[in-house]
Amino acid sequence: MLVGMTYDLQQEYLDRGYGKDEVAELDSPVTVEAIRQALASQGHEVELVGGVMPLARALADGRRWDMVFNFAEGMRGLAREAQVPALLDAWDIPYTFSGPEVLALSLHKGWTNAVLRAHGVPTADFRIVNSVEEVDAIDLPFPLFVKPVAEGSSKGVSDKSLVKDRWELRDICAHVLKTFHQPALVETFLPGREFTVGILGSGPQCRVLGVMEVLATARGDACAYTYANKQEWRERALYELAGDDRAAQAAEVARAAWQALGCLDAGRIDVRLDAQGQPRFIEVNPLAGLNPESSDLPILCGKIGLGYDELIASIMDSAMARAGKRHGNRS
Ligand SMILES: Nc1ncnc2c1ncn2[C@@H]1O[C@H](COP(=O)(O)OP(=O)(O)O)[C@@H](O)[C@H]1O
Ligand SMILES: [Mg+2]
Repeated sequence: MLVGMTYDLQQEYLDRGYGKDEVAELDSPVTVEAIRQALASQGHEVELVGGVMPLARALADGRRWDMVFNFAEGMRGLAREAQVPALLDAWDIPYTFSGPEVLALSLHKGWTNAVLRAHGVPTADFRIVNSVEEVDAIDLPFPLFVKPVAEGSSKGVSDKSLVKDRWELRDICAHVLKTFHQPALVETFLPGREFTVGILGSGPQCRVLGVMEVLATARGDACAYTYANKQEWRERALYELAGDDRAAQAAEVARAAWQALGCLDAGRIDVRLDAQGQPRFIEVNPLAGLNPESSDLPILCGKIGLGYDELIASIMDSAMARAGKRHGNRS
């Protein structure tokens, strides 16, 4: 089948004058090539498309694909991940991973928390801060944890994210608002173990691939999986499969969140233990990084013996099953 690939390359945006940190969530040619090869080895004809702009031009020129392998993160606006799937929906072209409504919601960590709590999934207590003036009204007990409401790859997360008083809270909120031009999310600090849960499949049919504990080395920041720990993961982070009771409970929280949000095909959910040792949802990655060496989902898959090409094949199978049902219903 003819498979288009949609993605956003870091270099393209560096060339346009964006800074290194601004493009941290975007992809490298290594990832594009790894996915292309995996798809080609499954017998697909692959066409590299790029991000939302080249996609829009290609669609307007009449290009069509049987399936699009979409992992475009987008660059502009808080619905940036939703732009490519929204276009593909409009043209009725099937694609991998979640739809625009899920990607727009889940990029906003505050709204995602609110929806999940309505479904009974435990999250940290939280407030969304739109301006520094709102900080004084925050009534959550310290310590608190502050991060941009809609970033990934631990952007905006450092040892300063953990705050113990209102002065520190004001400083970090002001920093997040100014640097990232978006609201700050203030949450109760979850001091316990951190897990990232790999999930394959869609909604109620999903299955947990494995639970990986994220730890810091002596050189890493101990308080959280910070931007520095993520960027220099070989020196600062440790990843270990976890199979104990707490890990199993974390997997249940992740599965409940995946189902409640209706996420599709594959992804990762981050979970941390609170002061009482209970797992709480931190965030969902419905477009999880797919760099074969450095992204958390492929690292997790490597640890459970699921090869990279098999992961890509499973994602395609899941998306194709959905596409088959859709067209089957219509005819
Ligand atoms: N409420 C919290 N309490 C403690 N640590 C947190 C909290 N929220 C996030 N973190 C830490 O910050 C990291 C990055 O936050 P996360 O929401 O996963 O952002 P990203 O999308 O950048 O991965 C997490 O992996 C975790 O270590
Ligand atoms: Mg995360």
